[in-house]
Amino acid sequence: MDRNLRTPVIAANWKMYKTIPEAVAFVHALESKVKSSKVKVVIIPPFTALNAVAEAADLTKILVGAQNISEHSEGPYTGEISPVQVSDAGAQYALVGHSERRRYFHEPNSLINGKLKAALKYDLIPILCVGETLEERKAGQTHEVIGKQLAECLDGISIDLAVNVVIAYEPVWAIGTGVTAIPEEAQAVHQFCRKTLEKFWGSIAEKIPLIYGGSVKADNAAELMKQKDIDGLLVGGASLSVETFSSIVNFD
Ligand code: PGA
Repeated sequence: MDRNLRTPVIAANWKMYKTIPEAVAFVHALESKVKSSKVKVVIIPPFTALNAVAEAADLTKILVGAQNISEHSEGPYTGEISPVQVSDAGAQYALVGHSERRRYFHEPNSLINGKLKAALKYDLIPILCVGETLEERKAGQTHEVIGKQLAECLDGISIDLAVNVVIAYEPVWAIGTGVTAIPEEAQAVHQFCRKTLEKFWGSIAEKIPLIYGGSVKADNAAELMKQKDIDGLLVGGASLSVETFSSIVNFD
């Protein structure tokens, strides 16, 4: 496996936090701290701050993502936001299938597959989140659950498009709980994901960034990033402070 085929991605998922002025101030403060980093730094703000963050991040190395998108490009879907609109607002990435969307908004794999295809159609890089619950892990079903999520969410994605996908392994039991997967434990699942992608797309699997999320902090980022199939991090709680997030980005 050649890790150099993949540029690391470290993304901040702000969830439902921050007003526009707070978001803009964060980007201005972050900019100088991540200037020389070799990783792709992605801020994923709430929709209300997306355009303001994109403008503040313009001409910096900071990239911008949306937390969710509709599977439709436009139409009478009150409350939804399309991939065309987030792209218009300045996003280059879109999260799809985050476990909070699966859990609280009952998003099934078939819908996530539609969102992922919509992202690719409008030139957004989808970050597909997969992960098992604690019950599933305890029952020894981790591979089965993640294998099914990958197969169903990535169904129908051709090899030429596959190279634009990012996968985030986020064990549900590690999200917002303060319990991080042990780096070797996370690596084992990442390796399983890579092997599964290889079955779909052959050697392209080597080029796909597999990032880890779930209680990432400044003091565990380096250890996680040492694992050979961990190509980045998706950070929730610890991404809300410039100090903490910048030290995660500058993990080495
Ligand atoms: P956390 O969230 O870092 O707060 O655990 C990660 C995520 O939900 O993407």
